[in-house]
Order: sequence, then structure tokens, then C-alpha cells
Amino acid sequence: MVEKNNKRLVIYYSLEGNTKLIAKVMAEEIGADLLQLNPKKEIKSKSFSKYFWGGSQVLMKKQPELMPFEVDPMDYDFIIIGTPVWAWTYAPPISTLLSKVDFSGKTVGLFSCNGGQNGKTFINMKKHLKNSHIVSHIEFIEPLTKDKKVAIERAQQWIREMVSKTKI
Ligand SMILES: Cc1cc2nc3c(=O)[nH]c(=O)nc-3n(C[C@H](O)[C@H](O)[C@H](O)COP(=O)(O)O)c2cc1C
Repeated sequence: MVEKNNKRLVIYYSLEGNTKLIAKVMAEEIGADLLQLNPKKEIKSKSFSKYFWGGSQVLMKKQPELMPFEVDPMDYDFIIIGTPVWAWTYAPPISTLLSKVDFSGKTVGLFSCNGGQNGKTFINMKKHLKNSHIVSHIEFIEPLTKDKKVAIERAQQWIREMVSKTKI
């Protein structure tokens, strides 16, 4: 683990642990703080109806209420945002985040976890981050269950490259 760098933050939402795994690996690699988004009302991750419920939340453009943040993203210059892909885009808690927090002027990297169809996830996120400096993005396919070791190494390499490009 490297020394803490209090300008760097990894923000993520994760229903089933994939995005959480990658977020933790990245934060540890560069000494960043972690901010997990927790909806006040969460879907049961084991239920099959999660696909219906989650998918319809996306289609209805829902922005679920989130538990209070433990840190303020405004205090950071270098921010990574990680999301699971739901219905070919970012998950609703990320929609809440993007509408609540102004990332203008921040240096940003994006990552997603998905089942093989990333869809418009990054295109849609970038639409909300027009005034941010987006350096790079990367996707992971089910890192918990498919080639976990390779996924971890890719995450470490990507985040190191982000840091060396931005020097933050
Ligand atoms: C409601 C819902 C919708 C999903 N839609 C997609 C999709 O459009 N494309 C895809 O590749 N995977 C889709 N998935 C699979 C997740 O993106 C994938 O399992 C991801 O790794 C989950 O991340 P998490 O474990 O951090 O929650 C969906 C999963 C859920 C629960």
C-alpha cells in the first residue's frame, strides 16, 4: 500500500461487489480515499427481480436518494467514478451523484463493471461531465468471477497510468 494522497478519491456504487472490488484495488494502489454510494432503499442483490427493478429504475431515469456522504468530493482534485452497467448505462445511484455534485474542473477517470455489454455507459457519463477533464476510462467484465487476478492487475496498471498522466 502506498502513502495516503488526500487529493485523490475513488467514488463507486456496487450492488453485488464487482465494482467495489475494483474501486478498493484502485484506491489502495494510489493511496486514494474511498466513497461508497449507498441508496437509502437498496434492491436485494440475490433476487432475480433485481434485473426488472434495476432496469426499470434506469428507464424511468430514477435518482434514488443516497445516504449522507462520508467525505465531500469537492475536497478532491483527482476523482475516479466506478459504476456497474445497468440496462447499457450507469446505475441510478451514479445518476444521483452526477446531478448532485459539480465535477467542473476536476480531473476524472471512469470505470465500469458489466456482463459484457457496456452500451453507452461512458458516453452518457461524459455528457454529465462536460466541464471535467476526463483522462481515461476502462471496463471490467465480472471481475469477481472471471479472471479476478487479471482484472486486479489491469486495475492497478490503469490507475498507475492515470496518476502518471495527471501528476496529481
Ligand atoms: C439491473 C441490472 C441490469 C444490468 N444490465 C446490464 C447490461 O446492460 N449490460 C451488462 O453487460 N451487464 C448488465 N448487468 C450486469 C452487471 O453490470 C454486472 O454483473 C456488474 O459486474 C455488477 O457490478 P456490481 O457487482 O458492482 O453490482 C446488469 C445487472 C443488473 C442488476
